[in-house]
Amino acid sequence: MEALQIIVAIFILALASSLTFASDPSPLQDFCVAINDPKGSGLHIRKNTSNIFGSTVTPVNVAQMPGLHTLGISMVRIDYAPNGGLNPPHTHPRASEILVVLEGTLHVGFITSNPDNRLIFKVLYPGDVFVFPVGLIHFQYNIGNTYAVAFAGLSSENPGVITIANAVFGSNPSINADILAKAFNLDRKMFYIGKTAAVTFAGLSSQNAGVITIANSVFGSNRPINPDYTKYRSPYLEALQIIVAIFILALASSLTFASDPSPLQDFFVAINDPKGSVFVNGKFCKDAKLAKADEFYFSGLHIRKNTSNIFGSTVTPVNVAQMPGLHTLGISMVRIDYAPNGGLNPPHTHPRASEILVVLEGTLHYNIGNTYAVAFAGLSSENPGGITIANAVFGSNPSINADILAKAFNLDRKMVKNLQSEF
Ligand SMILES: *[C@@H]1O[C@H](CO)[C@@H](O)[C@H](O)[C@H]1NC(C)=O
Repeated sequence: MEALQIIVAIFILALASSLTFASDPSPLQDFCVAINDPKGSGLHIRKNTSNIFGSTVTPVNVAQMPGLHTLGISMVRIDYAPNGGLNPPHTHPRASEILVVLEGTLHVGFITSNPDNRLIFKVLYPGDVFVFPVGLIHFQYNIGNTYAVAFAGLSSENPGVITIANAVFGSNPSINADILAKAFNLDRKMFYIGKTAAVTFAGLSSQNAGVITIANSVFGSNRPINPDYTKYRSPYLEALQIIVAIFILALASSLTFASDPSPLQDFFVAINDPKGSVFVNGKFCKDAKLAKADEFYFSGLHIRKNTSNIFGSTVTPVNVAQMPGLHTLGISMVRIDYAPNGGLNPPHTHPRASEILVVLEGTLHYNIGNTYAVAFAGLSSENPGGITIANAVFGSNPSINADILAKAFNLDRKMVKNLQSEF
């Protein structure tokens, strides 16, 4: 009985932890600049893609930009050679990735974990956005006859990369060829063709199945897994495994709070319909098996937005409201347009996100150039929130008592009233 109580307690704890576990990380202070030589400009430069894959990734993570430390965000530029430049199948063990195409035409996709190994893919054109959930194997392939360029935000200061082929066939020291022959169902001799070597990487990424068996994901996407895999499991053993996993999860959740969030399954596509769905982190979620590529996709970020407004700037968000597949992934993106000669994205905060911004056109302090300016930014939350200071303070509804603001800002009461009438 006591054992049962403990199990129940653990279970409740685990449930409670799963309710809060998917939040964005807290750095516990404003920031923490990792000490190192600061660098970090030059993402406008096309990189040399003359290499075996025809692609080059230029990262801006904590190694290049120490100020990113503890902020849960980073960025990359990816260049793809014409006619087949490939960012080969890889995973980021610690980050989801939101990617926007600036030039060219990319065929992109990711593969869900076992047992489905479903390939979710899309062809992207300039301005299109796609998200790759944390830990899943994904790739981008240039199907156009021009260079392609993409920028991506990643929900970790240090996302990590595991390039599947390199890890499996290029480990140091090599994995025994018999192991790989069996794992990939290949003739052992094949491993001696060309330069080979390797690793089995059975990425056990969470308690919730979350197993990505590389050979299955890469070669068997969409196909049912070998039935042997699931045979001979005693229900008793399985229950025990689940309990142990829950316990570890409950422990881990308090220990790892400052890490990037874990969605506890491949992804959760947010929906508004409560029927037949689970409720996670404030949203109803679709059955993952019914998820469609379009739920990880958004288009139109290539279009310059109208900036004829009081501030001379327009923010176009791609967060969970626009892209339901972002739910629980701790990442989103915006395009910001600035009018020439003074376009301003006014002082504001994001209560739930750090932001990493790259300028594509123009010169920003506010826009101090005489041309339009354009920036893209990644944000470390699916729903970063925005608090525009002037609007919040002087434009609240109902208004803050003018005496309070007069005192807070050391202003004349009449001035406060004037300001309040502006917002
Ligand atoms: C690109 O890299 C290749 C291989 O390293 C080199 O031969 C080539 O000259 C480089 N091209 C440019 C434009 O730098």
